[in-house]
Amino acid sequence: MTLWGGMFSQGLNPSAWDLNLSLSIDKRLWHEDVTGSKVWAQGLCDAGILTISENASIQSGLDQIFDEFSSGGFLFKESDEDIHTAVERRLGELIGSTGGKLHTGRSRNDQVATDFRLWMINQIPMLNQLLVQLQTVILERAENDFGIILPGYTHMQRAQPILLSHWWLSFFWQLNRDRQKLVYLKSLCASLPLGSGALAGTAFPVDREKLASSLGFESPSPNSLDAVSDRDFTAEFLFWASMLGIHLSRLAESLVLYTSSEFAFFKCADPYSTGSSLMPQKKNPDIFELTRGKTGHYIANLMGLLTTLKGLPSIYDKDLQEDKSYVFSTFDTVQLTLPALSGAIQSLIVNPEKMASSLDGSMYATDIADFLVKNGVPFREAHHIVGQVVQHALKQNKPVDSLSINELLPFSHKFESMDPSLFSPEASISNRNAIGGTAREAVKNQIEQAKSAINI
Ligand code: ARG
Repeated sequence: MTLWGGMFSQGLNPSAWDLNLSLSIDKRLWHEDVTGSKVWAQGLCDAGILTISENASIQSGLDQIFDEFSSGGFLFKESDEDIHTAVERRLGELIGSTGGKLHTGRSRNDQVATDFRLWMINQIPMLNQLLVQLQTVILERAENDFGIILPGYTHMQRAQPILLSHWWLSFFWQLNRDRQKLVYLKSLCASLPLGSGALAGTAFPVDREKLASSLGFESPSPNSLDAVSDRDFTAEFLFWASMLGIHLSRLAESLVLYTSSEFAFFKCADPYSTGSSLMPQKKNPDIFELTRGKTGHYIANLMGLLTTLKGLPSIYDKDLQEDKSYVFSTFDTVQLTLPALSGAIQSLIVNPEKMASSLDGSMYATDIADFLVKNGVPFREAHHIVGQVVQHALKQNKPVDSLSINELLPFSHKFESMDPSLFSPEASISNRNAIGGTAREAVKNQIEQAKSAINI
């Protein structure tokens, strides 16, 4: 039995039924659906639409349904079109015709819009927690790897030495912004659609303020048409996950490179790498590759939903039913990826010697230019002078940091007072002590800042 068969003389064609079905996807909203229905029944009772005993019987029927779902004992029937239909059908079985009063003044349009926002709100603490776990792992790495220096790259060319801790923490802050965005995401879900009816509002004097506070929403939605028809919060969630995925993908890509034999800055631990079925020597960084690969799903789901939403006439359209598969698939993938990535990063084996041996003399060129600037040479001129020094070293086939002061003097007499220890990763790093720089002290402060960002 569908919820809407009264005026139809024929049942749905099986192919149309199959296409229309959404139960396999929206059944995971059962918790929110039952909770929302309990609050709605209470609202109807407070408004005098249900008697106290009718409400009591609906409440106990819904409680039993809740228990059946919780224990895995709820039995779906082939006739259940979606989760809303299934719950209402079961309520009728349990309490008889009074069950048919629950849907008074309500539509599945405001019901699903409510369930889905509530579901999203309920998941946010867990998403936040997964991000904090990864941030904690990154922060631990920053602390444990403190003092290790590696080449920093721009354009994938050796640029300047940096502390490995500084490199790790760059990802910490990206994740921190992802976490801050969850607060915004929650605020987008905070207005309650229930009581909007199918589109025009409910015809019963239900106290929507009370509904909102009972369900943990901030306020009732101010416009019934908007409340049932928009899915901007789902698009924001999918964008949120896409941006998170892009952050993680760039981290993962760097680690794929850095675990290759060419870089060999890190080695994957056995529990987080796989072998090849053909080549016995292989150890593959699959967790990082899959983290990178899964980002394609996030972006595809975002594109899918946006394409579904674009051009829909106002107000509710059945296309909106497609929203859940995108959101659930992205949500599940985020949940699957983050713990594995956290473990893979935590267990990475670092190779400080390889990092140190990948630094080369040309990486101190900026430091030499900065030395000249500190001795009164305008930066543009200093840049040019050091460019010539680098060219000279290349011609001589010598590393820049092996040039003696005497060899430097023809380029500028200012080199007279230069301390040759300027040519060292430590000196280069310690020069960059402004807030946010890679100097040891600045990074120590950053570690403290990161700790307080995740309350440890
Ligand atoms: N399963 C539907 C969805 O997710 C519920 C709303 C159905 N509304 C309707 N008027 N047929 O959108």
